[in-house]
Amino acid sequence: MNQLKIRRPDDWHVHLRDGAMLAQVLDHTARQFGRAIVMPNLVPPVTTTALAEAYRGRILARLAPGRTFTPLMTAYLTDGTDPADIAAGFERGVLTACKLYPAHATTNSAHGVTDVWAIHRVLERMEKIGMPLLVHGEVTEPAVDIFDREAVFLERVMSGIARDFPGLKLVCEHITTEAAVAFVLGHGDRVAATITPHHLQFSRNAIFQGGIRPHMYCLPILKREKHRLALRQAATSGNPKFFLGTDTAPHAVETKEHACGCAGVFNAPVALESYVTVFDEEHALDRFEGFASEHGARFHGLSLNEGTVTLVREPTVVPERIAADGIAVVPYHAGTTLPWRIVEAKAGAGAAAG
Ligand code: DOR
Ligand code: ZN
Repeated sequence: MNQLKIRRPDDWHVHLRDGAMLAQVLDHTARQFGRAIVMPNLVPPVTTTALAEAYRGRILARLAPGRTFTPLMTAYLTDGTDPADIAAGFERGVLTACKLYPAHATTNSAHGVTDVWAIHRVLERMEKIGMPLLVHGEVTEPAVDIFDREAVFLERVMSGIARDFPGLKLVCEHITTEAAVAFVLGHGDRVAATITPHHLQFSRNAIFQGGIRPHMYCLPILKREKHRLALRQAATSGNPKFFLGTDTAPHAVETKEHACGCAGVFNAPVALESYVTVFDEEHALDRFEGFASEHGARFHGLSLNEGTVTLVREPTVVPERIAADGIAVVPYHAGTTLPWRIVEAKAGAGAAAG
């Protein structure tokens, strides 16, 4: 198969940032995806319905003329989150989900939750109204090895949340290990996971390939090869519990190439091209549409998009840098050539019945 036309996909995990960076990165996501779940880890974080509504306005104001794209907003949970505010935001259609960052787990997570007990009333309310909880699943204790933080989180925290809130919809975000695949498979339909292109394409060796590679540093960190293989199996299996979430996380080049570089891979410019390459290598092109365009929408109870995206087996040359307004960002796969290319993206009328 040299050409693949799929229903317009969605990205269930993006960092769109704010201000000049938002302006620079937004269209890379909006040109290919119908909707995206927007992460709330701004400075300061998006912790309330009012802040999410204002942020959504700033995103929509930056959309290129004629673009059809729906940002799906999230609220960043803190120890002080008000359940009534979150519920009102969900019921008004401002919020799609809440995000749990354990305090200090990653970029701008200093305000994150210190103990799940602190948010149990919020989780009870979310469970009652059917609002999904999106989880950055890593423990933050410095004593736990960075490569074990996800597996330890599943054992110590996530299994307790799943047990204590049996009706709560849970997304294990950007999963990186066999343990996470097993956790998702071991729970019912209300537990799902997103998988990034970089965790499907690279193991931790890539961070140290001939020297230190700051653009391959992200959180959760890349893991051993056996974990990458487990993720590829899960993503391409056709199981609706697994769906696309890029975790595209742009940082200005000088903050990545630094003595203490930021975590994040800016993969939005080549997201679909990267994922489709994985499905092609795994002889699973027939399962790509489910992963990219159907499973996530169904999990969230949303209709499917109406538009289409067409990819062809032709080279995409990835630039070394993408720069605008004085900000330069290094894209995923910078300076290389990918085997697939997007030739057409049609927005359609919006979302169809799903
Ligand atoms: O690598 C990452 N970058 N992981 C995260 O969880 C956050 C993100 C960011 O915001 O830069
Ligand atoms: Zn993220």
